[in-house]
Amino acid sequence: MGLKNMLIMNQKIMRPQLFLLFYILFSSVLVAQHIEVGQTLIENRKNPLGIDNPKPEFTWKLTSDKRNVKQTGYEIQVANSKQNLINGDNLYWSSGKVSNEQSVNIPYSGNALLSLNKYFWRVKVWDQKGKASKWSDISYWQMGVLKKNDWQAEWITAGYTEDGEERPSPMFRKVFSIKKKIKSATAVITSRGLYEAYINGERIGDQYFTPGWTNYHERIQYQMYDVTTLLNKGENAIGALLGSGWFRGPLAWNKNLYGDEISLLMQINVEYTDGSTATIITDDSWKSNKSHIKSSEIYDGEMADGSNIEKGWKMPKFNDSKWFDVNVESYGYNNLIATINEPVKMQEIFKPKEIIETPAKEMVIDFGQNLVGFVKVRVNGKKGDTIKLFHAEVLDKEGNFYTENLREADQKNTYILSGEEDEIFIPHFTWQGFRYVRIEAAEKYIKPENFTAIALYSNMDETGSFTTSNKLLNQLQKNIKWGQKSNFLDVPTDCPQRDERLGWTGDAQVFSRTAGFNMHVNNFFEKWLKDLASGQAENGNVPHVVPNVLGSHEMGSAGWGDAATIVPWDMYIIYGNQDILETQYESMKAWVGFMKNKSENDLWNTGFHFGDWLFYRPEDDNDGRAALTDKYLIAQCFFAHSTQILINTAKVLGKVDDVKIYSDLLNKIKEAFVKEYMTPNGRLVSGSQTAYVLALNFDMLPTELRPQAAQRLAENIRSYNYHLTTGFLGTPYLNHVLTRFGHHNLAYTLLMQKTYPSWLYPVSVGATTIWERWDGRKPDGSFQNSGMNSFNHYAYGAIGDWMYRTLAGINTATDVGGVGYKKVILKPHITNQIESEEVQNQYKDKILTTVNGELETYYGKIRSFWKKNEEIVNMRFEIPVNTTAQIHLPTKDISMVKEGNRALSTLKGVAIATDDEGYLVVETGSGIYDFTIEK
Ligand code: BGC
Repeated sequence: MGLKNMLIMNQKIMRPQLFLLFYILFSSVLVAQHIEVGQTLIENRKNPLGIDNPKPEFTWKLTSDKRNVKQTGYEIQVANSKQNLINGDNLYWSSGKVSNEQSVNIPYSGNALLSLNKYFWRVKVWDQKGKASKWSDISYWQMGVLKKNDWQAEWITAGYTEDGEERPSPMFRKVFSIKKKIKSATAVITSRGLYEAYINGERIGDQYFTPGWTNYHERIQYQMYDVTTLLNKGENAIGALLGSGWFRGPLAWNKNLYGDEISLLMQINVEYTDGSTATIITDDSWKSNKSHIKSSEIYDGEMADGSNIEKGWKMPKFNDSKWFDVNVESYGYNNLIATINEPVKMQEIFKPKEIIETPAKEMVIDFGQNLVGFVKVRVNGKKGDTIKLFHAEVLDKEGNFYTENLREADQKNTYILSGEEDEIFIPHFTWQGFRYVRIEAAEKYIKPENFTAIALYSNMDETGSFTTSNKLLNQLQKNIKWGQKSNFLDVPTDCPQRDERLGWTGDAQVFSRTAGFNMHVNNFFEKWLKDLASGQAENGNVPHVVPNVLGSHEMGSAGWGDAATIVPWDMYIIYGNQDILETQYESMKAWVGFMKNKSENDLWNTGFHFGDWLFYRPEDDNDGRAALTDKYLIAQCFFAHSTQILINTAKVLGKVDDVKIYSDLLNKIKEAFVKEYMTPNGRLVSGSQTAYVLALNFDMLPTELRPQAAQRLAENIRSYNYHLTTGFLGTPYLNHVLTRFGHHNLAYTLLMQKTYPSWLYPVSVGATTIWERWDGRKPDGSFQNSGMNSFNHYAYGAIGDWMYRTLAGINTATDVGGVGYKKVILKPHITNQIESEEVQNQYKDKILTTVNGELETYYGKIRSFWKKNEEIVNMRFEIPVNTTAQIHLPTKDISMVKEGNRALSTLKGVAIATDDEGYLVVETGSGIYDFTIEK
C-alpha cells in the first residue's frame, strides 16, 4: 500500500486500529534498526560555507534502540555533486571501510580540496556485530578562498569626504546584468569595519556584525554566502552599508584603533548552467554616498533619519548619477581568513512586560530580562517625528532609570520617521545591554506593540540544561546562561553594556568550562585563541584583552594570561579537540616561558597583577575582614597550573622532551611556593579562602598537609557565617575543592546561601543575569561604585561547572581515549545537607529533591536525573551510542539497587565495583538506565 493510499484510508480508520497498523508497519523497522547515523557535522558545523582547513574534519552522531552499541567501522564518501553520491560513482574521495570506533573529528584525507568548490558527503557505520547502518543524510560544505589569486575584488572606500566629527554609514552600489541561466552563485564578503550587503534589496544572509572581531592587524575574516536565489536574469543590483564597528569605533577609550577608513571587499562568483562563469567584484565602477544612518557606533548607538532614505537605492533602476565614485585601496589579501565560528544572529524575542512611568516622570519599558541586542521599533507616524531609545540594565532604589554604570557609553538609538506606513527601525552596527528602555517620543508612539527586544549573540547551539526542584537554583542557571548569551557576541566579553565590551582574558578562562556545558563553544573559543596567540608579545606575554586594543603595556597578569593554557585545555577536555592543543601549543609554551623568565629561583613575584579581582571587602573593615590574597601567591599558583597543563598537553601530543623539562620546572615551582608562602605546619601567608582554594586545587601543598589546609578553608567559611569571600580567581574552584576534600555539604551550603556575598543573593533580589560584583545592588537597594558595576558579567557564573559536574554529576574521563565524553562519568551527589541552621531557616520546604542535567555532546545526549524522598531514590541515566559510562551510585549496598525491575546484580554485561568514597560503580555502555535505590 502506498503512503498516499494509507493516508487516505487513515481518515476512516478508528484510532486503536490506526495504532495497530503503524505498529505492524514500523515495528519491523525498529527491530531491524541497530545503529543509525544521526546528525553530521564538518568542522563542528552543519553545512558550512567557506572552510580554509585543507583537511576538514567529519563528525557524526549515532543512534540505536539497543543498549551497549558501539561503532566498529565507518566509511565516508565525498563527491562533487549530490547525484554522484547517490549513484555512488565518480566519487571525489572514499575512505573505504575503516575499522575504527572514532566518530568525532576524522580528517578528510583524499586529493586536495579545491578553492571555492562545494563538496557533498555521507557516512555509514558498522556496529559490534558487523551490521552496517544505512547511509547518513547527505551534507555539504564549501571550501573558502584558498589561493590569494582567487581574489579578484578590490578594496573600495567611499568617494566623498567626511565632514568633521560626523561619520555617516557609507552606501555602495553596483548594477550588473546576468544573461544566462544560473547554476550557482557564491558571494564572498569582508570589510574593514562592519558590513551589511543586499542583492536586489534582499539582505545577504542573516548575520550581524560581520566580518566579526579579530586581530585585524593580522587576521580579517571573510564570510561566504550562497546567493543563487537572490540573482535574477537581467539587471541586478548590489547594495552595501558599512559601519565603524570594532575597526575604527572609539573602542576601549581610544579612537581609530585599526584605521581611519572603512572599506568593502566583495566578490560574487557565478556559475551558469552551460558551465561558463562570471565574477562580479568591488572595483572602481562602484558608486558611493552617505546613507541615512548618520552615525552608528558600538557604545553610543545609532542615529537613523528615515526621512532621508534614498528610496530604492538597493535596486537596479535607481538613479545614482548624483552619487560619488569610490576609491580603490591597496590593502591586499594577506590577512584574509575564513570564518570558523558561528556568526552572530538574532535570537530570542521579548515583548514589553510593562510600560512604567517612573517617579522622574520618564516612560520606561521593562522587557523582564537583562539581555544584549536591540529594540525593533515598528510605527505608523508623521514624517520628521523623532523616537529616542535609551537603554539601561536596572532601575534605581526609587524606581528611576539608571545609566550611571554605563560610564561613557550612550547606548542611545534615535529614529527620525519617514512617515511611511508600518516603518521599521532596526539598528545596523550597534547593540545595547539592557532590560529597561526609556522612550523619548510623542505619547502616541509609546505603545507596547511598537517595541520588541531582540537578543543577539553568536549562533551556537544550546547544549546543556540544568533544572532542579529548587526555583532559585533554576533561576541561577538561567542567569548564568543569559550572562553567557549576552557576552558571547563573537568574542567572549567581560560585559556588554558600558564603554568596555572587551575580550578580557581572565573572565574568559574563569568561565570557559561552564560555557562548554551551556553551549557549543568549541569553534567560538578556537577562533578567539588564534587571536590570543596572534596578539602575544615576542616574550610570550599575553594581553589582558583579546583582540588586544589596550596596547603592549597592558599584559601579563596571573589568572588573565593563563587563558592561553586553560581555555585550549578545556576545549580538549570538553570536545576532545586535539587540534586546538596542536595549534595553540607554541602559544601555551610561550606563556609558561614568559612566567619562567619573570621568575627568580622559580618564584614569580614581579610585575602587575589584578589579583583575586573583586573579592569580598566589607565597607567597615576595622577588624580586617577583607579577604585579601597575596597577589604573588596567586601568581605562583597559576604559574604551576599553566605548567601542569603544558605537561598534560605535551603528553597528549607526544612531546616527550617537553614533558621532562616542564615536569622538572613544576617541581621547582611548587618547592618555591612551599618555601615562600607556607609555614612548616601548612598555614598559608594569606589566610583567605582564595589562597587555600588555589593551593589545594592546583596541588601546591605536600599531600599530607592537604586535609588540614582544607579544614582551614572550611573554618574560614564558617567564620564568615557560611559565606564565600572569593573574587574572580578563587570562585570557580571553591566548591570543587570543598567537594574533593570531603566538605561537600559545606559547598552545598554556600550554594544555597541567600545572603550577601553568595550566588543566590542577586537571584533573591530579582537578578536575571550574573552580576560583576557580589553586591552590585546592596541589600539596602543602593548601588556599588558606578565606575565598575555591570549587571551582566559572567565570571561568577563559573559555579555552573560545579552544578553540572557535582549536583547532576556529569563529567568526562580525561585520559586520551576518554576526553570529549567518549568515556562518560556520572556521579551525582544526592546527599546534600545544609550545614548552617541560619541558611536552613532561609527555606521553608525541602531544598533539593530533584536534579536533571542534560548535555548534548558530539556523541549525542547525556542525561543524569535523580529524585529522592525518605524511602527511595530514582535515577535515570542516558548514555550516547559509541561511548561507555562509569555510573557511581550513592549506596554501598548492591542488594538495595534495581535497574528497571531487575536486581542490579543480575544485569548482564555490567561490571560493578566500589569507589574510594563508597559509591557503587557500574560500568556500562550506551542506552537508557533506570535505577532505584531503596534506603
Ligand atoms: C573588567 C573585568 C576585567 C577587569 C580586569 C574590568 O574592567 O570588566 O571583568 O577582568 O577589568 O581586572
